Amino acid sequence: MIAKLFMAICRLSPYLRKVIWRRWYQFLTRSYKRKDWSFINYGYASLDPQTDKLQLDDADEQNRYCIQLYHHVVNVVDLRDLRVLEVGSGRGGGAYYIKRSLGPKRVVGVDFSRRAVAFCNKSYSSVEGLSFVAGDAEFLPFRDNSFDVVVNVESSHCYGSMNAFLMQVKRVLREGGYFLYTDFRDKGEVDILHKQLDHSGMTLIKETNITMNVIGAMNLDNERKMALIQAAVHKMLLRPFQEFAGVIGSMMYEGFRTGEVIYSSFVLQKPNHQ
Ligand SMILES: C[S@@+](CC[C@H](N)C(=O)[O-])C[C@H]1O[C@@H](n2cnc3c(N)ncnc32)[C@H](O)[C@@H]1O
Repeated sequence: MIAKLFMAICRLSPYLRKVIWRRWYQFLTRSYKRKDWSFINYGYASLDPQTDKLQLDDADEQNRYCIQLYHHVVNVVDLRDLRVLEVGSGRGGGAYYIKRSLGPKRVVGVDFSRRAVAFCNKSYSSVEGLSFVAGDAEFLPFRDNSFDVVVNVESSHCYGSMNAFLMQVKRVLREGGYFLYTDFRDKGEVDILHKQLDHSGMTLIKETNITMNVIGAMNLDNERKMALIQAAVHKMLLRPFQEFAGVIGSMMYEGFRTGEVIYSSFVLQKPNHQ
């Protein structure tokens, strides 16, 4: 069994997959303009939440698990004064969290949904050092060696070519720069992802299977997601949105729970003197 809905899309031809995801994310931003909906990821919960609770402002509590996923991914590098690029920045909550909490010099978010980029530029126009541009992960519109860190959260399953994306990441990173990455794959695709990372020309420093943490977040965040969907979505779209959000019992949730879909995080580094 696989998480049929999303995995079926992931298995389409690269061109079709990209077209469908782009339309979906354009539709989401066109139809749902709520400023408080600023993340689109399944989240991360510590396996021992009592000892390991991220300190957050009250306003961030509603996005705790989505923020914790970002925190887990980026917390391995001191981002102070660095130039950070987020590829697949969505509704901008992650880039904003990184900018205001972790002290980088600047954060640029890039996303292929022009509507999402417009939404972010409007929502975060007053934040100095934070900007969003439209662009494709496989053709990043930035100069070589122009970032210290590239972040990528739950976006790469939409891409037509993972190899093209990894080539772009390596190109825009300076020597010694870090690629901080997380996403899920059907268990049959995990070896392919390993080969792609191996061939990227970057060095794999750390890999962590976080599937249990993601399931934990899905459990803890379920009530909030259900209420949000109930309040915001037309009743004909309730089920597709519940699937997309990964509520308890959805195909994605079951995919993670049964081990058919694996969620991992990675730290890679561009070597010096290539
Ligand atoms: C599941 S959302 C994650 C958004 C954000 N990282 C977060 O965690 O809230 C995936 C995002 O990747 C973006 N995306 C998908 N394919 C892309 C591509 N080829 N180039 C740039 N962005 C892409 C989508 O538009 C969407 O905003």
